[in-house]
Amino acid sequence: MDKLIIKGNGPLQGLVRISGAKNAALPCLTATILTADDVHLTNLPPVKDIQTMGSLLTDLGMKVCMDGEEAKINGSQLSNHVATYDLVKTMRASILVLGPLLARAGHARVSLPGGCAIGARPVDLHIKALEQMGAEIVIEHGFVEARASRLKGAEIFFETVTVTGTENILMAATLAEGITVLNNAAKEPEVKDLADMLIKMGARIEGAGTATITIHGVEALHGASHAIIPDRIEAGTYVCAAAITRGHVRIEQVTPRHLRRFLDVLILCGLKMSVGENSIEVFPHEGLVARDIQTQPHPGYPTDMQAQFMTLMTQAEGRSLITENIFENRFMHVSELVRMGADIKVTDRTAAVKGPMPLSGAQVMATDLRASASLVLAGLIADGETHVNRIYHLDRGYTHLEQKLSAIGAQVQRVSEGTSHLE
Ligand code: UD1
Repeated sequence: MDKLIIKGNGPLQGLVRISGAKNAALPCLTATILTADDVHLTNLPPVKDIQTMGSLLTDLGMKVCMDGEEAKINGSQLSNHVATYDLVKTMRASILVLGPLLARAGHARVSLPGGCAIGARPVDLHIKALEQMGAEIVIEHGFVEARASRLKGAEIFFETVTVTGTENILMAATLAEGITVLNNAAKEPEVKDLADMLIKMGARIEGAGTATITIHGVEALHGASHAIIPDRIEAGTYVCAAAITRGHVRIEQVTPRHLRRFLDVLILCGLKMSVGENSIEVFPHEGLVARDIQTQPHPGYPTDMQAQFMTLMTQAEGRSLITENIFENRFMHVSELVRMGADIKVTDRTAAVKGPMPLSGAQVMATDLRASASLVLAGLIADGETHVNRIYHLDRGYTHLEQKLSAIGAQVQRVSEGTSHLE
C-alpha cells in the first residue's frame, strides 16, 4: 500500500488551484439517475470516491463516460436497483442513490453503510423522510429495501441537520407528486450546488441554502450541463498548509464565502490574508495565537476542517479548546499528533491543545480523510521525516495532493511499501 513521506522544509510558496468539491460532485452524480437524458458534469475532482460513484452508477445500468474532470452520463438504460455491499462499504455516500433510484424506478435496494471510523453515522433520518413520502421500507439482510409507485410530497422535519439526508430527500422530492417542504434542512454550499443542478434539469426548488427548502414535484426531469463548485475543504487545508509553514501561498479557483467562518477564525488567530472573489492569498507571519472552535452545521465552523485546525493550533501561542459537535469519534488524529510531540488532552467532545510545541517526524496513520490531512500538515513542519501510512483515505478526497504540495515547495513523496526513506 502507498504511503506519503514528508520532510519538514520551511515556508511554502507559490500558487495552488483548487479542484471541484467531492461532497458536491457525489450527489450531483447520483442526481443523474433522475433522468433518461444526457447529463454533462464538469469540474469533477479526479479522486477515488468519484470513480467509486461512477462504478456504482455503471452497476445500475447507467452509461458513464468519465474523462479527467468531466463526465457524460446517460440514464436511458437504467436497469438495476441494487447498490451492493462491496461498493457501499468503501464509500458511505453511496446511500445517495437511495432517493433518486426510488423516485425514478420505484424500487431501490441499497446496502446499509454501517458504522465508520468517525462514528455510527446512521441513515434513520433518510428512511423516516422517505416513509413520510409514502415509501414502504424494510431493512433486512443488511439492506434498505424501498418501494413506492410514486412518492408523495410531504412536510419533513429533520431532527438533526443532515447533509446527505437533505440531499437524498431533495432529489427524491423533485419527481414526487405534490409539494415537499424540508424543515431544518442542511444549508451547506454542496446542497445548494445540487439544487442548482436539479433546477437546470427542470426541478422546481426554492430555498436551497436556507433551513427551509420547498420542492414542487414534476413529472420528469431532463438533461443538463453543470460545473461543480470548488472544494472549500481542500482550499481550507491549503490555507492551513501555508499558515503552519509561515509561507506565502495564493489559492485560486476557490469560493471564499463558502469558508467564511473558518477564515474569520484564522484572522482572529493573527493570520494575514487577502481574500478576493475567487482567491485567497496567505501571507507569511511571525506567529499565531490560539483560538477556540466548536464544529457546527454550515454556516458554523465545519467538522471537515477540525483536524487540520488542530494541527495548526499545536504551533499557536496559548491554549485552544476544540469541540467536536457533529461526530462522536472524530479525534483519531489526536493520538498520532501526540506521538509527534503535540500537547493535546481530550475530555469528552473537547480537545485542549497547548502550543507552540515542536513536532518530530514519525510513522503515523489515520483512519479517515481529514485526519490524514492533519497528519500531512504536521509532517510539513516536523523535524525529520514523517511517514503517513494508509493514504488511500487521502486519495479518496484530495486531488493530486503530493503534486500540489510539491509545486509550492513541500518535500513530499509517494512511495510503495518497501521503499523506506525520502530520496
Ligand atoms: C456529510 C459530508 C461529510 C461531513 C458531514 C458533516 C458528504 C459526502 N459527506 O456527511 O464530509 O463531515 O456531512 O458536515 O457530503 N445523522 C443521524 N441520522 C441520519 C443522518 C445523520 O443521526 O439519518 C447524524 C450523524 O450521525 C451525524 C450528524 O447527523 O452526527 C450529521 O451527519 P450528516 O450531515 O448526515 O453527515 P453526512 O451527510 O454523512
